[in-house]
Amino acid sequence: MSKIIIRGARILGGEPQDVLIDGETVTEVGTGLDAAGATVIDAEGQILLPGLVDLHTHLREPGREDSETVLTGTRAAAVGGFTAVHAMANTFPVADTAGVVEQVWRLGKESGYCDVQPVGAVTVGLEGKKLAELGAMHDSAAGVKVFSDDGKCVDDAVIMRRALEYVKAFDGVVAQHAQEPRLTEGAQMNEGIVSAELGLGGWPAVAEESIIARDVLLAAHVGSRVHICHLSTAGSVEIVRWAKSKGWNVTAEVTPHHLLLTDELVRTYNPVYKVNPPLRTEADVMALREALADGTIDCVATDHAPHPHEDKDCEWAAAAMGMVGLETALSVVQQTMVDTGLLDWAGVADRMSFRPAAIGRLVGHGRPVSAGEPANLTLVDPAYRGAVDPAGFASRSRNTPYEGRELPGRVTHTFLRGRATVVDGKLA
Ligand code: DOR
Ligand code: ZN
Ligand code: ZN
Repeated sequence: MSKIIIRGARILGGEPQDVLIDGETVTEVGTGLDAAGATVIDAEGQILLPGLVDLHTHLREPGREDSETVLTGTRAAAVGGFTAVHAMANTFPVADTAGVVEQVWRLGKESGYCDVQPVGAVTVGLEGKKLAELGAMHDSAAGVKVFSDDGKCVDDAVIMRRALEYVKAFDGVVAQHAQEPRLTEGAQMNEGIVSAELGLGGWPAVAEESIIARDVLLAAHVGSRVHICHLSTAGSVEIVRWAKSKGWNVTAEVTPHHLLLTDELVRTYNPVYKVNPPLRTEADVMALREALADGTIDCVATDHAPHPHEDKDCEWAAAAMGMVGLETALSVVQQTMVDTGLLDWAGVADRMSFRPAAIGRLVGHGRPVSAGEPANLTLVDPAYRGAVDPAGFASRSRNTPYEGRELPGRVTHTFLRGRATVVDGKLA
């Protein structure tokens, strides 16, 4: 079995220590560990985190392999420091049966770069009309615990109630893409001053907030777990804060792009900024950062949404919604949360590994960096500064809003059960 010693890394930002990996497991943590027979990685000045976990990734396979595959998406995940991702169900065919989730699960096993936990659709074909086979997906080899119609909102309150009741039996969770469809018909961007000036159809905050308010009440009524995808408004934060103060089983995520970017960027008419939910205002961004810092928002999730250039390099109204995010997520979180003093590295480990793993009930991920634990680890150089170059992405798609932007930090190494998937910032 191969041995690796990581020398002098600051675990969760603490004092420098050595970490010995033997085979798939962390076997020792301490100072001055014996490196005999081990490959040595000099990690002076670097931060060691538990492998990152993404609750919200679009891997596109099956059906849209022109934008991403499980293989290319998991390679992008590894480059970004992730050791596990949840693969969203809006594929073609939709992941609404045991057969499709098992297919995605199997492709994940074969990829070898990152664990893939399929998300199951809530309704058949994401059509919002009829509950999918939630139990069969849970009982399948994929062991689905998270269900979502993401891309679409489960807008029928009765269907949402039934889904919450159903998943309660096996401690599952419904992850809601909160978007009231009637309030967002023809919507192209955040409803506000910028949309009024540009004459683009507005997407009001209340379209998100009204669904969140309804769903936290439903979750409380049923006594089940609801997770809110990609919070984007200050009002959404207030509702989640209120629901948590009641002791209800509500969790929430925020994307890196909603922590950094605002609707002012839409003035460029560059569709790379077109995303669902839309980029909001500076006040929303600040409220989201604060909520992530105080724990109202549980975790960061990328909503990595790869699209081929023909679906993005077109006029604003025709462009697809979404941006890639796996390879830049940690850097954006460092810039917006760590370098601003809102979160320390232990906080980053919590919001990007411990909590998302706990919400998804993932086994073997989101574990402390200590002896006896699976060696799922991410080593970060926080002093690195570099401009984002999409040409170098491992993802099959290039639709990043950060092209040419200087971001701090770089993942130097990622380990999946002791195997280095990334070495010196490059895929191994
Ligand atoms: O921007 C988005 N893109 N938001 C979603 O909810 C879906 C996603 C996609 O699948 O492209
Ligand atoms: Zn969504
Ligand atoms: Zn999504």
